[in-house]
Amino acid sequence: MSSQTRTIVVTSALPYANGPIHIGHMLEYIQTDIWVRFQKIRGHECIFVCADDAHGTPIMLRAQAEGITPEILIERMQKEHLADFTEFGVEFDNYYSTHSPENRHFAELIYTRLKEGGHIRTQVISQAYDPKAEMFLPDRFIKGECPNCGTADQYGDNCEKCGATYAPTDLKNPISVVTGETPIEKDSEQYFFKVSDYGDMLKHWTRDGHIQKEIANKMDEWLDEGLRDWDISRNAPYWGFEIPDAPGKYFYVWLDAPIGYMASFKNWCDSNDHNFDDYWKEDSKAELHHFIGKDIARFHTLFWPAMLHGAGFRKPSAVYCHGFLTVDGQKMSKSRGTFIMARTYLQHLNPEYLRYYFAAKLGSGVDDIDLNLEDFTARVNSDLVGKVVNIASRCAGFINKRFDGKLAASLSDDSLSQQYVTASDSIAEAYENREFSRAMREIMALADKANQFIDEKQPWVGIKDEARHGEVHDVCTIGINCFRQLVILLKPVLPKLAAEAEAFLNVEPLFWRDLDNNLLDHAINRFKPLMTRIDKVYIERMIEASKEAEAAEKKITSQNNDSSIEPIESEINYDDFAKLDFRIAKIVAAKRVEKSDKLLQLTLDIGNETRNVFAGISGAYDPATLEGKLTVMVANLAPRKMRFGISEGMVLAAGSGDNELFVLHPGEGAKPGMRVR
Ligand code: 2FM
Ligand code: ZN
Repeated sequence: MSSQTRTIVVTSALPYANGPIHIGHMLEYIQTDIWVRFQKIRGHECIFVCADDAHGTPIMLRAQAEGITPEILIERMQKEHLADFTEFGVEFDNYYSTHSPENRHFAELIYTRLKEGGHIRTQVISQAYDPKAEMFLPDRFIKGECPNCGTADQYGDNCEKCGATYAPTDLKNPISVVTGETPIEKDSEQYFFKVSDYGDMLKHWTRDGHIQKEIANKMDEWLDEGLRDWDISRNAPYWGFEIPDAPGKYFYVWLDAPIGYMASFKNWCDSNDHNFDDYWKEDSKAELHHFIGKDIARFHTLFWPAMLHGAGFRKPSAVYCHGFLTVDGQKMSKSRGTFIMARTYLQHLNPEYLRYYFAAKLGSGVDDIDLNLEDFTARVNSDLVGKVVNIASRCAGFINKRFDGKLAASLSDDSLSQQYVTASDSIAEAYENREFSRAMREIMALADKANQFIDEKQPWVGIKDEARHGEVHDVCTIGINCFRQLVILLKPVLPKLAAEAEAFLNVEPLFWRDLDNNLLDHAINRFKPLMTRIDKVYIERMIEASKEAEAAEKKITSQNNDSSIEPIESEINYDDFAKLDFRIAKIVAAKRVEKSDKLLQLTLDIGNETRNVFAGISGAYDPATLEGKLTVMVANLAPRKMRFGISEGMVLAAGSGDNELFVLHPGEGAKPGMRVR
């Protein structure tokens, strides 16, 4: 192992604050966290920062749909996201928000420097506009028929049926997702970053070992056809930072999102007494590594290095793209219950199962990763429970019961533990290069060796013969030491198991450098099972729960199409409203109406007269509990002849219906007959 300490800043992509984290997201955060934890136990200074990506139209619209401010929405989301990450063992040094003063500062600084350098220009362009919502529409907020195959209900960028890609203006019969109106084209001035000014720099940078080959090839397509200037502005109403000296224009969310890496890091520096510039100045010696999904490669490998370079900051040392997650060979599906939220997973299964499975599947490339639920169960059960934990459970009992919980003072033979030390170089190299699947294979091969050793030595036979106890002590001490080494090797992947194993071994937190010293003449603690087998019933329950979680999420996000809310169909003007005479009414008598399961017959006192009113609230109230209470009624509604008699007005109630309908309760100062305004 190299003895030189590196200084490394690491980021994962910033999740949008408009929805919950799902296991597809978790692939990336777990991949990054494993890499970070590996660097840390190697003794390097490694700072892992992230944040919620808190701006943009979808967040603005979701807040509207929930009837809250974007500030409240993003604060709640940030807490929920961080709770999910933390329970999955993803340990950030700082988790922040792009809606922060630091981010505003850096967004303005970078923009201003680019502008001063002549790299920003303006141009009037025509874009889709919703005249009813009075807003410009992002592509994802326009739907219509595919211009290629005619399939209805397709988004403005591509067709899910035939795969065609097109501009929103190509859609047939387009509508705004926000209001259902037909969008119109409207001109406005926009701000563009002249990325093409950095074409030569990017041609070199993308071929200089900073990004994967496959991604560099992909970026070449853009570089070769000539980079187009990038529209970094959006018109009000928009949720984000207003552009300095451009009232009513906001930074596009993708401008300030990656700058959020810097902002989160600056926020960390300020509370940890570090100097931001040491890490971000142009010639910084610190390393900067970004982990992202392949879908956002263009932002990170073209626009982001260009922005940094243009504004006089250092560029990334590396951008690592991963593929998407599929479940059982298919895209995650809401109806199949395989669109699994992080929270739903956590309610059913141990997060370290998934950490291990992802590690066992992840390589350094951009291929998609499949979570095959049967294979997941089999691998976790056989590798972690059947191989790794089994070594400790096979040896600990004898040490605890027969040798006073103490390991032997010396080993007859340390060749097994030496094999582990030798193998650790290749495992470290695999971790470093994000070849986690190779690391897991090599670690499991070592676990197999320890189990074979125990199988051969059969301590359960030797223990029956007093004369062989020294040998049993030796074998079990070797076994426990192998287990300890496995824990070190797996610690980046299984931090919780490692912490519990450290407690069992009665040792301080383990580092990579501890691999080559054995634990001898040392008291260990009682062994408790460190991990249990996955029963497939938990997986089935998680899938069922995912179907339900999806239904709940849909209810929140389907802003204009929540079927439980009837549309408001016709407006009345103020004069119509003013005609309504609302009065406080005392319920002097209430009884059920025979042959009706909805109606109660109420006798209402409105001061100088009593009224007979039939009200559809019998599902919610026992009539006896209503007597003596106050409610509000429309007193000037013309009497209506009903099947059971004449109804002389209407009472007002609020609630979801059924057994939840509220009338007004006695209130101080309210008197029957008083007018309500
Ligand atoms: O694609 C996404 O989910 C974005 N929120 C990622 C942003 S990463 C970075 F640039 F901030
Ligand atoms: Zn199509």
